[in-house]
Amino acid sequence: MVDPMIPTPFKVTRVRRELADTFTLDLVPAEGRRPFAFQPGQFNMLYQFGIGEVPISISGDAADGGVLVHTIRAVGGVSNALTGLAAGDMVGVRGPFGSAWPMKEAEGADVVIVTGGIGLAPLRPAIYHVLANRKKYGRFIILYGARTPADILFRKELEGWRSRIDTYVDVTVDAAGTEWQGNVGVVPKLIPRADFDPANATVLVCGPEVMMRFTIQALNQRGVGDDRIWVSMERNMKCAVGFCGHCQFGPKFVCKDGPVFRFDTIRDIFQVREI
Ligand SMILES: Cc1cc2nc3c(=O)[nH]c(=O)nc-3n(C[C@H](O)[C@H](O)[C@H](O)COP(=O)(O)OP(=O)(O)OC[C@H]3O[C@@H](n4cnc5c(N)ncnc54)[C@H](O)[C@@H]3O)c2cc1C
Ligand code: FES
Repeated sequence: MVDPMIPTPFKVTRVRRELADTFTLDLVPAEGRRPFAFQPGQFNMLYQFGIGEVPISISGDAADGGVLVHTIRAVGGVSNALTGLAAGDMVGVRGPFGSAWPMKEAEGADVVIVTGGIGLAPLRPAIYHVLANRKKYGRFIILYGARTPADILFRKELEGWRSRIDTYVDVTVDAAGTEWQGNVGVVPKLIPRADFDPANATVLVCGPEVMMRFTIQALNQRGVGDDRIWVSMERNMKCAVGFCGHCQFGPKFVCKDGPVFRFDTIRDIFQVREI
């Protein structure tokens, strides 16, 4: 049995620059390709040798277990080091860890994805899943917000999803110059005009906590109950397996009970800051 505390060496096979500060790394096990199973919403601990370890969601397709994909924004020591990797470099991986988006429970319902910034990365596997199993779901809606047009993640893919007849995509930015023809404003503003059934929708939300807070308010105003809303919580982590207590909030451990929670189960701790 693999010890969950010991990183497995993976080799970087491809680095894609997504935005000025954001990169996608493709990884394969150092000892040859073998399947890596995960569920949409789960994360890995990525260990940059000699620097440290951070939780990063898996942003690739769960149906393609041959390559492990992570999309990382450089914000500090470890994430900067990870985004500095090149093809052929090695990285340590522990995981997959944590809970997943409720793809099975959502079958038969409209699926609404509301996301901002790098939050689109942890939701991309859920998008791939819905598109690959499109008949199992009702209306499919993706609402995405970025700071500026230059900060729109996976822009080409968003355009591809928008061009599908069975998917509604609406994008907004906080601020833009005259070259931008699209929406300006925060992502919760897109919710009132999206066509879905509030009583039969499963809503998946990931982004900065302030964005998630206003998104939930807008969803509630639309009549979506807290038991139909799922959020991914970001908290600093150390062990990722419920040992160290670093991510603990009352009875909940974000690393193993989350990061994906049904909102009514964490309403009380949602706005509690890191301890
Ligand atoms: C379950 C989970 C999934 C994540 N998925 C992704 C992802 O797909 N892509 C991505 O780019 N980032 C993701 N993150 C955030 C990522 O883990 C942090 O950005 C990273 O830990 C920062 O570490 P650092 O050493 O680079 O920066 P530090 O120097 O440690 O911190 C820089 C800044 O980031 C904040 N920060 C540090 N750790 C975290 C954290 N775990 N969560 C939130 N803020 C943090 C600090 O408070 C500080 O403001 C995820 C976090 C969690 C908990
Ligand atoms: S990170 Fe150690 S208990 Fe969650």
